[in-house]
Amino acid sequence: MLIGHLSDFHLFAGKPDSPLIRPDIAGVLRRIVADVAAFEPAIDVVALTGDLTDGGAAEDYALLRELLAPLSARVLAIPGNHDLRGNFRAAFSDILPFDEGEPAQYEVIHGSVRFLGLDTVVENGVEGRLCPVRLAWVEKKLAEPFAGQTTILMHHPPGESGLTFFDNIGLREGREEFGRLIAPHGGKLNIMCGHIHRPTQAMWSGAFVAVAGSPAFQTDLDLRLRAVEPTVVDVPYAYFIYQVTETGCFSVHPRYVTLPERGDPGQS
Ligand SMILES: [Fe+2]
Ligand SMILES: [Fe+2]
Repeated sequence: MLIGHLSDFHLFAGKPDSPLIRPDIAGVLRRIVADVAAFEPAIDVVALTGDLTDGGAAEDYALLRELLAPLSARVLAIPGNHDLRGNFRAAFSDILPFDEGEPAQYEVIHGSVRFLGLDTVVENGVEGRLCPVRLAWVEKKLAEPFAGQTTILMHHPPGESGLTFFDNIGLREGREEFGRLIAPHGGKLNIMCGHIHRPTQAMWSGAFVAVAGSPAFQTDLDLRLRAVEPTVVDVPYAYFIYQVTETGCFSVHPRYVTLPERGDPGQS
């Protein structure tokens, strides 16, 4: 089974909030989706871990769904702090089985993998939070026996990335409790995230954590203890492809996609 993991498109139909967002992101995403769709053997599931739009407008999501249309894979998505939950839910309610209640959360079992979409977003906040209601939902789901791999999708990485700026706007509530909940399951549980715009892999509370990079802009590796937003760097872009084998091996493969240079109007 193959899982594609992409994140942080910051797609916009009108104007982006930030000049960091490359203006041709729609064309860039079209190119990346074409690469995912053409990959052989076919990718079974595509997981999108938030900040899929830059401002969360309904027309941003309409454009997003249009750009994702070439995918034959099952698409799973969770919101990030740049998304608007209401419009996000409306845009994906035809393909995602959201629970009742405010958080945009759900469970999907596909092949041997159980996906838990976990909403870490708070209204008007850039940081992530797992309130007692969301933690209780995770605890209940993990208590249900499942023989295969469990993958949690969440925008904010649960641990420290080392990038101080992003750690300051990381998961600010419920982290210790969340770690306590997943620790007994670490061997058969992994976590996919976004938010820091830099591909990163970590072990946290016994679980493997992967953060997908962003095609909208990529941040430099700055591990110094200073809360300055890392500079944007022009480095090759890759999304992740995970392979889950019948023996339970979970492999991570960066899949590079050549993108047009930033600001080249002829390529968008
Ligand atoms: Fe982002
Ligand atoms: Fe984010």
